[in-house]
Amino acid sequence: MPWYTLCILLLAIGLSDVGGKEIKHVVLFGDSFTDQSRSHSISNGTFPGKDYQEVFPPADTAADGGVQWPWYLGLYGNYTIWNYAVGGAVCNNNLTPLFDVPDVLNGQPDWFIQDHITSNGTSHQKLHLDPDEFVVVLWIGTNDVGINSFVTDDQKANTSLVDLAECQMDTLKRMRSLGARRFILNSLIPLQLTRLYSNRSDLVIHWPEEHDGPVWHKRMFNLVNSLNGLLRSGVQSLNEQWASRSGGYVEYFDSYAFFEEVYRHPDVYFNGSVPANVTGWCHQCPDPLDFHFCGIGDCTEAERDSYMWWDELHPSEQTGRNVAMELFKKIKGVSRF
Ligand SMILES: *[C@@H]1O[C@H](CO)[C@@H](O)[C@H](O)[C@H]1NC(C)=O
Ligand SMILES: *[C@@H]1O[C@H](CO)[C@@H](O)[C@H](O)[C@H]1NC(C)=O
Ligand SMILES: *[C@@H]1O[C@H](CO)[C@@H](O)[C@H](O)[C@H]1NC(C)=O
Ligand SMILES: *[C@@H]1O[C@H](CO)[C@@H](O)[C@H](O)[C@H]1NC(C)=O
Ligand SMILES: *[C@@H]1O[C@H](CO)[C@@H](O)[C@H](O)[C@H]1NC(C)=O
Ligand SMILES: *[C@@H]1O[C@H](CO)[C@@H](O)[C@H](O)[C@H]1NC(C)=O
Ligand SMILES: *[C@@H]1O[C@H](CO)[C@@H](O)[C@H](O)[C@H]1NC(C)=O
Repeated sequence: MPWYTLCILLLAIGLSDVGGKEIKHVVLFGDSFTDQSRSHSISNGTFPGKDYQEVFPPADTAADGGVQWPWYLGLYGNYTIWNYAVGGAVCNNNLTPLFDVPDVLNGQPDWFIQDHITSNGTSHQKLHLDPDEFVVVLWIGTNDVGINSFVTDDQKANTSLVDLAECQMDTLKRMRSLGARRFILNSLIPLQLTRLYSNRSDLVIHWPEEHDGPVWHKRMFNLVNSLNGLLRSGVQSLNEQWASRSGGYVEYFDSYAFFEEVYRHPDVYFNGSVPANVTGWCHQCPDPLDFHFCGIGDCTEAERDSYMWWDELHPSEQTGRNVAMELFKKIKGVSRF
């Protein structure tokens, strides 16, 4: 056997060795379920540039009402967090256009390139992170299937859930072409458990109009479960492709099942000063037609960690701490989700 064949073989074994190098960095792409402050920075007119790292800004709160879970993940695993998620984002702005913020397929990876790659697009292109020492976490889809898109029948006539799943696979492939080798893909959560996609038809701040609650509720259950099924098999075939091309592995994190577990056993996961509450939410908007009243009637600081949800759509900070702990286990290879 020529020496270079041996080298390639050893390299291949090294890359798939789970017990090899420790993860030191986590790179995140997503939407308001993950974003700490990028969307605020954009609407502030301070478009995030190279090395933007406001993971824990003192004067700003994320869509969970506080500190978003990636910061806790960094704390639990001693990881450096590169959070490129943007509130309101979708997988691909051309497929499901919503707010036109940097999307997961193109806009957010551009920030990764700015921060970690030199001479991008040339023969001297260089990635300044060790592929064995960072994991890419992708968590997207809530806006893609939500209001003003699939659930309200506002998606383009030629866009299907298959396109949404392929977009997520394309994002993983794009990151692999930039040198990433370790990935976690988070499934969509059971969005039918949120107030926005519940059985109720009355107005909410995110959709201040009468609507057919029971139809939304059933539709969302179907959308989320169908897209998750496509994602799961997409991940499987990507792993088969990559195995024969020496390198790259995607773990599927079943956040759907994890959220169901939290929903069913709230006493294990919530620790505020009132009994655990997985059906209500902390942040109140007493007049769904006027967001200026939002915040009146919120739960107290002491009660906050009792709630699974911060508002009608977003998980709470305590749910985020639980997500962070479970993803920490996932990275360590000991999560059952
Ligand atoms: C918003 O702009 C102000 C003033 O320029 C700045 O101090 C603040 O850090 C910005 N906030 C974010 C989230 O970028
Ligand atoms: C945390 O990570 C930093 C940077 O990688 C390292 O220098 C430090 O030793 C780590 N701390 C612990 C407690 O592992
Ligand atoms: C990196 O290079 C590719 C290929 O030339 C190009 O399409 C892309 O826009 C570049 N991205 C950045 C952020 O420079
Ligand atoms: C889908 O329809 C849009 C118009 O809504 C059109 O611009 C686009 O080219 C179509 N895409 C494909 C792949 O046919
Ligand atoms: C939804 O609401 C209807 C009418 O109130 C009720 O009959 C049905 O059982 C509810 N479905 C769920 C899944 O809660
Ligand atoms: C609840 O538990 C988390 C750890 O999961 C902790 O960080 C937080 O401070 C606790 N909250 C309260 C109100 O004790
Ligand atoms: C949960 O919280 C809501 C407030 O959003 C409240 O109306 C409801 O009674 C609480 N449920 C339980 C079981 O405490």
